[in-house]
Amino acid sequence: MSAPQSLFVKACKVLPVDRTPVWFMRQAGRYMQEYRDVRKHHSLLQICKDPQLAAEVTITAAEILGVDAAIIFADLLLPLEIMGMPFHFSAGEGPIIEKPLRSAADISQLRTDRAAELGYVAEAVSAVAKHFGPRLPVIGFCGAPFTLASYMIEGGGSRNYILTKQMMYSSPQAWNELMRKLISVTSAYVTEQVTAGADAIQIFDSWVGCLSVEDYRRYVLPHVTQLVREVQRTGAPVIYFGTNTATLLASMKETGAEVIGLDWRIPLDKGWRAVGGKGAVQGNLDPVLLFTEWPELKGRAEEILRCAGGRPGHIFNLGHGIFPETPVENVKALAKFVQEYSR
Ligand code: CP3
Repeated sequence: MSAPQSLFVKACKVLPVDRTPVWFMRQAGRYMQEYRDVRKHHSLLQICKDPQLAAEVTITAAEILGVDAAIIFADLLLPLEIMGMPFHFSAGEGPIIEKPLRSAADISQLRTDRAAELGYVAEAVSAVAKHFGPRLPVIGFCGAPFTLASYMIEGGGSRNYILTKQMMYSSPQAWNELMRKLISVTSAYVTEQVTAGADAIQIFDSWVGCLSVEDYRRYVLPHVTQLVREVQRTGAPVIYFGTNTATLLASMKETGAEVIGLDWRIPLDKGWRAVGGKGAVQGNLDPVLLFTEWPELKGRAEEILRCAGGRPGHIFNLGHGIFPETPVENVKALAKFVQEYSR
């Protein structure tokens, strides 16, 4: 941990702060010219696997925006490769997994002994932590087991998660084995990130909102709870984020994560109540509002801060990641506005 006294870490722990900390999911990405310049010469995976480049991209974005935390530049899917599932990104189509999981036999083939080969991410964390020192906290991250499993089984993004749910419903033993394997790899992976200097870990369960409450509780909650526990052994607070989760929030809070990430579909105060009013929440401006005129954007940010009511434990963020076409000026202005207005 490199910045334990930062506003961001204090807010994760629901400690009082003199203003609301702010950072943005996908704050380093194609909407930013500096990132596009790096991408002219390197693929996404090249950047991820080169700790100096990944650190540079992370640092540049955080500095340009003036945000209160830097999220390490990496990708959710990196663990797939070392588990024996190669993938690539195709322009316009997103990630493509070469041989998706289709059977219990495929799952039994998955390897869990190569997490150390993801050490390039920890090296990048260490370079970022060294650069910022106590000035700015670094957020490490990993995918949650359901969301990673959905990529492994569907072979890429999905609309209805039919194959994933089919596996879950019809082969619960294989499903549990898959969850166990993913937790084994991701817990080792993020533990290394904390050892390297990450101040908090965000677990992205981006697509878990496709599940009913009952299925979430039966097939996912016990596994994420275990992952959260493993991460908490490092002492780093955990942010657990998903989209379309209004019905799942109370259950998600049962994982014990210190911070629950809210998407924009639920008003922040209602989401906070849904997680019991305790702990911290992160969110939750619709990232599409960054495409509107400043008065509208500002008004909506104000409304979120009003919902938070200055209570300790709010971290301002978007309800999901920044889109590639987003005007950078709006992102900068939003960070500055949150910092000044909440003071
Ligand atoms: O937030 C940050 O600044 C850190 C970087 C980051 C990336 N991916 C880099 C990236 C983070 C946190 C992720 C997480 C991630 N990756 C998620 C979960 C986050 C979420 O939005 O819910 C998911 C589902 C993925 C898998 C993935 N990687 C997808 C679906 C895509 C989009 C494909 C496309 O072409 O739009 C990616 C690619 C990706 N990962 C990009 C970046 C900056 C953009 C592609 C590029 O630079 O070529």
